[in-house]
Amino acid sequence: MQVQQTGDVTRDWYTRFAVNEARGQSAIYEAWATGVAGDDEVLDLIRELPRPKQQPNLVFACSRLLGAPEGEYAPWREWLLANWPAVADAALQRATQTNEPRRCALLLPLLAAIEGPIALLEVGASAGLCLYPDRYAYRYDDDPVLGESDVLLECATTGPVPLPDRLPEIVWRAGLDLNPLRVDDADDMRWLETLVWPEQVERRERIRRAIELARREPVRLVAGDGRERLREVAADAPDDATLVVFHAGTIVYLGRDERAAFADDVCSLAAERGRTHWISIEGQGVTPGVQPDGTGGSSTFALALDGDLVALAGPHGQSLDWLA
Ligand SMILES: C[S@@+](CC[C@H](N)C(=O)[O-])C[C@H]1O[C@@H](n2cnc3c(N)ncnc32)[C@H](O)[C@@H]1O
Repeated sequence: MQVQQTGDVTRDWYTRFAVNEARGQSAIYEAWATGVAGDDEVLDLIRELPRPKQQPNLVFACSRLLGAPEGEYAPWREWLLANWPAVADAALQRATQTNEPRRCALLLPLLAAIEGPIALLEVGASAGLCLYPDRYAYRYDDDPVLGESDVLLECATTGPVPLPDRLPEIVWRAGLDLNPLRVDDADDMRWLETLVWPEQVERRERIRRAIELARREPVRLVAGDGRERLREVAADAPDDATLVVFHAGTIVYLGRDERAAFADDVCSLAAERGRTHWISIEGQGVTPGVQPDGTGGSSTFALALDGDLVALAGPHGQSLDWLA
């Protein structure tokens, strides 16, 4: 939807967030973002933050972490004005690292079609909850559930999705992140849960269950830049496994040139190693070479295998529209 822009970067960011992201997903965030966009006093505070930290999702989550009332704009605004130094401090220290295990429902059809065993390496893994595609249960549309797990991932599909009848064999897994979140750290997990929008109760519950699973089967998470440490971590994958490098909602945080360099790095790693695939789950137009379809509707993400667009998808793995 086209949103009226004023040329005021921060104000326009909040307006776009209200209309394009929060509407239909969170009435509370839509009300807060709409309120902020028309509130010069609050905007002046937010503008004190460095530009990337002015992100609506970050400011809202920090306020909730610190106890802001979750409801209408006026009481939230009053709370924010009274607690701004603490909110600003939290925003400076934290980043949005939403981890959505349901994105495994997008990975699964591709993983199941790749000859295993598989070594799985995620760049931008957050707490690593997308590194367990073989540990979750799945229901695509009304099909029978595949897999046995406390964590059920449901996904609505259209088009000729190559739905798997078995889970992939994953023999090695690792994640890379600038700031891995630890599932055994209460503060990290409180932050992860707070990043889920207020009304998304089901999503929060699913993430809690996935965190429990990850605590039982800890995965290797390496702190570092995805480009700088990709080869080093990939080198630990067993030679006789097919390496799958994937990223979801991550390279959007890189500049355009960095994204292209990252794509080149993955392709040259694949060419040198052989038996390596690259899966990208990013907003349409983000991954270099993966062209947006432009007809996505609510399917704002693009799923690509080795640089080829195969499907459009809901950003949280809730839907998968396979292309013919
Ligand atoms: C929005 S989260 C997505 C997490 C996970 N991929 C998922 O789909 O649930 C993006 C993650 O990418 C990480 N990240 C951003 N830039 C990165 C980089 N250059 N190298 C490694 N990780 C990065 C962030 O720290 C964050 O945890």
